[in-house]
Amino acid sequence: MREFDETSITQAVIGRLSECDDPRFKRVVTSLIGHLHDFVRDVDLTEPEWFAAIQFLTDVGNTCTDKRQEFILLSDTLGVSVLIITLNHPADQGIAESTVMGPFYREGASELPRGSNLAEGVKGEPTFYSGRVLDQDGRPLDNALLDIWSGDGEGNYDLQMGGDTKMKARGKIRTDAEGRYWFRSIRPTFYPVPTDGPVGRMLLKMGRHPYRPGHIHMIVSAPEHLPVTTHLFVAGSQYLDSDAVFGMKESLVAKFERHPPGIGPNGERMDTPFYTVNYDFRLGPDSKLATRGV
Ligand SMILES: [Fe+2]
Repeated sequence: MREFDETSITQAVIGRLSECDDPRFKRVVTSLIGHLHDFVRDVDLTEPEWFAAIQFLTDVGNTCTDKRQEFILLSDTLGVSVLIITLNHPADQGIAESTVMGPFYREGASELPRGSNLAEGVKGEPTFYSGRVLDQDGRPLDNALLDIWSGDGEGNYDLQMGGDTKMKARGKIRTDAEGRYWFRSIRPTFYPVPTDGPVGRMLLKMGRHPYRPGHIHMIVSAPEHLPVTTHLFVAGSQYLDSDAVFGMKESLVAKFERHPPGIGPNGERMDTPFYTVNYDFRLGPDSKLATRGV
């Protein structure tokens, strides 16, 4: 057939994959084409709307830089990121729940001694984080790594601050032989996802607010275990019930206990009120390693 109507076009496009020799790619693209065509038919998409969509995606691409990932933000705000995470990391496995990576991760944060202050010179209320990294059965994991990042106490990530490119409120901490970690940083606050680009315009058009509840990010990993990309959310933070990227998980909400000025848990004299938070992460075994007999 050389000419197609509004229905036969779909099978025609899918049929052109007959020579594709990658079964997974073929399955994904076949489904994508089917859903995309169904969507266009469902809403009777007009030509100006189609062109607006092309322009929007072009703007999303043009907004990406080495410091900003607008496509991740688009995926996050449409709930796609958390849907993929939920499918790939089911809850109730007895391991720390995963949530979105978000657009502000930076590779190459320095590994620091336990107890270090990750937020030296960063605005925010001092907070002492501690806890353990355990396996699924509760055994401590020695040498586990926490790759940690957050905004400052006003909700700004270093990438958004302009000026120097030095990493702020970021660092890697390893657990000791008892699986314990501890470090100092600040108490994160709620903040808006970037609203000055196409995703911000989309949220406005949708009538949505752009805020995320206060949280600190971490990727927790250990040899022979599956790494977890996760957050700790500040209990009581505004927007816990309407996270703009749908990343909130009840199991990741942690109590930040407030203390008056005095001696901090590290023995240091604190002139301002400070917070302590304690949270244990459990990691599951890397089943690929087990099946390979590694
Ligand atoms: Fe964040």
